[in-house]
Amino acid sequence: MTSDATKDLNRTQFGANAANYATSEVHAKGASLARMVELAEPQPHETVLDIATAAGHTAFAFAPHVASVTASDLTDEMVALAGERASELGHANVTTKVADAEALPFDDDSFDIVTCRIAPHHFPNPATFVGEVARVLRPGGRFVLVDNVVPSDGDPDGATGDFYNGWEKRRDPSHVRALATAEWATLAESSGLTVVTTEEADKQMRFQAWVDNMSVPAELRPELLEDLLDGPEGFRDYLRPAGATQADATFVLKEGLVLARA
Ligand SMILES: C[S@@+](CC[C@H](N)C(=O)[O-])C[C@H]1O[C@@H](n2cnc3c(N)ncnc32)[C@H](O)[C@@H]1O
Repeated sequence: MTSDATKDLNRTQFGANAANYATSEVHAKGASLARMVELAEPQPHETVLDIATAAGHTAFAFAPHVASVTASDLTDEMVALAGERASELGHANVTTKVADAEALPFDDDSFDIVTCRIAPHHFPNPATFVGEVARVLRPGGRFVLVDNVVPSDGDPDGATGDFYNGWEKRRDPSHVRALATAEWATLAESSGLTVVTTEEADKQMRFQAWVDNMSVPAELRPELLEDLLDGPEGFRDYLRPAGATQADATFVLKEGLVLARA
């Protein structure tokens, strides 16, 4: 699939499911929100760009700590939703912008902090994205990335990562590829950023919410559940499934975090 086709698919998938992301527990309440703010050490005079903001959760976590936040996303419906929610929540310093992560419509050296959370696995050209982040960051600025990741080690042939990415892609055709945390760190260094720290943390997922968020057709849900519960051993070791039905099945995803400085 071409990059443009992938981006169109993302606009379609997220445009149709925008409202789900305002209430999604893993997006609205995930522990990585507070950790991103803690590590970035935002200052009252600083400016933030949040890439792929969806319903704005990351933008709103930073808004009370800085002068202004630009909440950006590829999908018109998401940008509209983030703007409405910023007004409802009283975040007067948040503005919105339609923006492709791989071709940011901002000048060089224009932000102190750039954030991107649980979204880069949708981008067809991760190196281009990280290059754009490095371009728009001021010298000394910070980049905080959080995304679902595949194993950085213990998966020498990549089979677990490949199975996980295929499984995600069947739920959400706009999923491109979850990278390993170590791959994100390498991309940051290749773009001229200096990696300060990397971390990984588990997050508990509910199968039902995972399929509902993307309005997965009913006929596809049983096979996704079956793969979760009876898939390859390495995949099950990584996702640690529990439960037996669509309603009670849970699993664990790993989020990778990279903090890098320009
Ligand atoms: C799971 S949501 C992001 C969640 C959000 N960052 C948060 O912390 O709650 C993924 C978002 O990525 C956006 N997206 C996908 N491809 C993109 C691209 N190339 N550039 C910018 N945004 C993109 C989608 O429109 C969608 O809103």
